[in-house]
Amino acid sequence: MSTLDHLWRENIRQLTPYSSARDEYQGAEATWLDANENPFPTGLNRYPDPYQRELKAIISQLKQQPEAHLFLGHGSDEAIDLLVRATCDPGKDSILICPPTYGMYRVAADIQGAGVVEVPLTSSFNLDAEQIVAAAAAESVKLIFICSPNNPTGNLMDRQAIELILSKTNTLVVIDEAYVDFAGTPSWVESIDKYPNLVVLQTFSKAWGMAGARLGMAWANPEIIQVLNRIKPPYNINQFTQNMLAQLLTEPDPTDSYRKVILRERKQLQKALQQLPFVKKVYRSDSNFLLVQVADAKRLYDYLVKQGIVVRNRHSAVPNTIRITIGQPEENTELLNALNQYA
Ligand SMILES: Cc1ncc(COP(=O)(O)O)c(C=O)c1O
Repeated sequence: MSTLDHLWRENIRQLTPYSSARDEYQGAEATWLDANENPFPTGLNRYPDPYQRELKAIISQLKQQPEAHLFLGHGSDEAIDLLVRATCDPGKDSILICPPTYGMYRVAADIQGAGVVEVPLTSSFNLDAEQIVAAAAAESVKLIFICSPNNPTGNLMDRQAIELILSKTNTLVVIDEAYVDFAGTPSWVESIDKYPNLVVLQTFSKAWGMAGARLGMAWANPEIIQVLNRIKPPYNINQFTQNMLAQLLTEPDPTDSYRKVILRERKQLQKALQQLPFVKKVYRSDSNFLLVQVADAKRLYDYLVKQGIVVRNRHSAVPNTIRITIGQPEENTELLNALNQYA
């Protein structure tokens, strides 16, 4: 029994996973008559590698992390869903979240019929680590989601608070780093050997500019990765995405040039927004968006839509806020022009 054994649902521990044709025979060259595929070469007539070995080798080289620590999902949303399904018995177990935060954690729990324990962020949008540790001691809590930098508030979570949570809980601790490339801090993947209960989520949807490809990463110790691999749909990353990402990742890293522009624009937009009379607060951002408190979020949102500019009204998460994704320079100028007219 491992130190994490108590976290997995009984049916997951007992599961006999689906065994695909590609699981049963893994050689490279053969006359393929095993998977009921169409034999005529369309370019996509074969099922893809269920474990994405070639792509994982490239990613692990790029990130300087072992392949055995990596799970690839159909977006990091797939990893969120699988983690909840692996750990939470419906009607019995719970996840812990720190609102306001990314909405999919709750949705994944609701789909599973799991409970949601909330320990809200403090008024400065930081983690209340002591409260989290206390609440996570309940037997029903199986995993804690920490989003850093957090969506929709934009800020990084304090490292010491996360250390405290990791060292004082025996639930899974999932740190969602979807926006970490905009934060200029080291990733928590470096700490996976230290904390067997740590899972780090990253994605190709943000800094890499590949939201349409649907590719997310979960980094964790091999026991957790094996559980995710056992319960995922067999061919969860399609061949097209595997090929495209493998190609992209062997070229010079495009994120540097994107990041430079996005960070520069973030700074300028932040400054310009602060000058507007109806803007009450522009929150600190370590991500590729700004959370802005205004006099009337709904009115401003409706006005911008009429101007053909779509932002996100986050009033339901933080009163009278809108979330603005940093666009290309001319898009940000268009936004500022519209906001100046509104003023
Ligand atoms: C915090 C956070 N995590 C995960 C995701 C989903 O990422 P993916 O596109 O990899 O599913 C998002 C998307 O907006 C996000 O904001």
